[in-house]
Amino acid sequence: MSSIDTARPAAHATGVPPRLRFPGSFVWGTATAAYQIEGAVDEDGRGRSIWDTFTHDPGRVIDGTDGDVACDHYHRMPEDVALMAQLGLGSYRFSIAWPRIVPTGSGAVNRAGIDFYSRLVDALLERGIEPLATLYHWDLPQPLQDAGGWTNRDTANRFAEYAAVVGGALGDRIPTITTFNEPWCSAFLGYSSGVHAPGITDNAAALAAVHHLNLAHGLGAAALRAELPATGKVSLTLNLAVVRAATESPADRDAARHVDGLANRIFLDPVLNGHYPEDVLDDLRHITDWAFIRDGDAAAINAPIDLLGVNYYSPTRVAAATPALQAEMSGRWVNDPMSTDGPSPFPGTDLAVSVPQDGPYTAMHWRIEPGTLTELLLRVHREHPDLPLMITENGAAFDDVVEDDGAIHDSRRIDYLQGHFAAVHDAIAQGVDVRGYYVWSLMDNFEWAWGLSKRFGIVHVDYASGQRRLKDSAVWYRDVIAAHGLN
Ligand code: FCB
Repeated sequence: MSSIDTARPAAHATGVPPRLRFPGSFVWGTATAAYQIEGAVDEDGRGRSIWDTFTHDPGRVIDGTDGDVACDHYHRMPEDVALMAQLGLGSYRFSIAWPRIVPTGSGAVNRAGIDFYSRLVDALLERGIEPLATLYHWDLPQPLQDAGGWTNRDTANRFAEYAAVVGGALGDRIPTITTFNEPWCSAFLGYSSGVHAPGITDNAAALAAVHHLNLAHGLGAAALRAELPATGKVSLTLNLAVVRAATESPADRDAARHVDGLANRIFLDPVLNGHYPEDVLDDLRHITDWAFIRDGDAAAINAPIDLLGVNYYSPTRVAAATPALQAEMSGRWVNDPMSTDGPSPFPGTDLAVSVPQDGPYTAMHWRIEPGTLTELLLRVHREHPDLPLMITENGAAFDDVVEDDGAIHDSRRIDYLQGHFAAVHDAIAQGVDVRGYYVWSLMDNFEWAWGLSKRFGIVHVDYASGQRRLKDSAVWYRDVIAAHGLN
């Protein structure tokens, strides 16, 4: 990109690190999700979601917490938007809770739910912060789950109706609307490993869920288009993986191909190319006959998008499955449900197993290797050169310590973010069209199966009082935004 300043004069001579400037239009943001921050689960007509059910099922969440109150953002929204303004954010990525808009998942629309997000959007716009809204960040209305959830094709139609409601009500003020956040998690964590709601462990069901999530994305994208102004943009966010073979052996390389298929291509190919990858269909025929893919679905899923959101945290390393390796890894998975280390209890575990990687790690035990983000962006750009990309999530959990004076010196988070900003800059310098970056997360929040035990925020939340405190990383990020780059 021509607008980027890659010149590194005098810097090397003086030993001062070069300054990395980003393109003028590059957007700096933070991200959150409804269930992780809002609380107020019984207020103003909100219906129940699968996460309300899941978190109240004892043993599902590691620390026994739930999202009933979380960050209490539903009541503190104006204060939180003021905080965003204080940081100088250019954009804020949030998700809309489907059960606030359509409480039972079909039929009646809840005006109070729309009003909440309408107030949020107005508050953001008043402060010059661009809203980026996601329609589905995992909180499926419980009545739809009772009818089969994402294994039921009809859920895709309900999603399209919901998308149309939001597009019609808010689309004039939200420049970009994202259909789904990380359908991989909804399908495989929700229906295969069962560590996320609805907690089902059925590999065939997970593959049906993949297809119905893809279909819902396509139908939802079309429904949004019909409601949005001509300038309105539609996007999808995927958690794409950088998959490495443990060794160069043909068997391990084939394991990497297989996992790349399940993690990346099973979503990218139908959405962007209009067909499923044949090798993935072949790999999994012992689990499903794929009969849920009907004529016309491929075209529906291939609805045009304006932007692809990329969520990225850590690389994945895989080896060909052997009984010995599966046995060796199995205990780790049980103790560490979100880790990529373990015999991923997913379809295809008979073919490939995730294996441990060296540190450094975050508090999630996720390996830190910023250069892999550059690698990922270059790959997506090479395969889809005309598609604008956005980093819709990246960040890190660490065991933050609040000092006596209230300060939180989270220098490891600053290092993590700095490394990944530089990785994005590197990709841009090599010609990748990356439009912006959203730190996960604005504030500490309810981290799904990990409950309140993992802190990803650049703002600390005291869950007892609700008090917000800027960590050092928030102050640092404010300076990055102000300088529009790294010093
Ligand atoms: C992503 C989710 C987000 C958060 C981060 C840590 O997979 O989209 O809600 O949990 O991981």
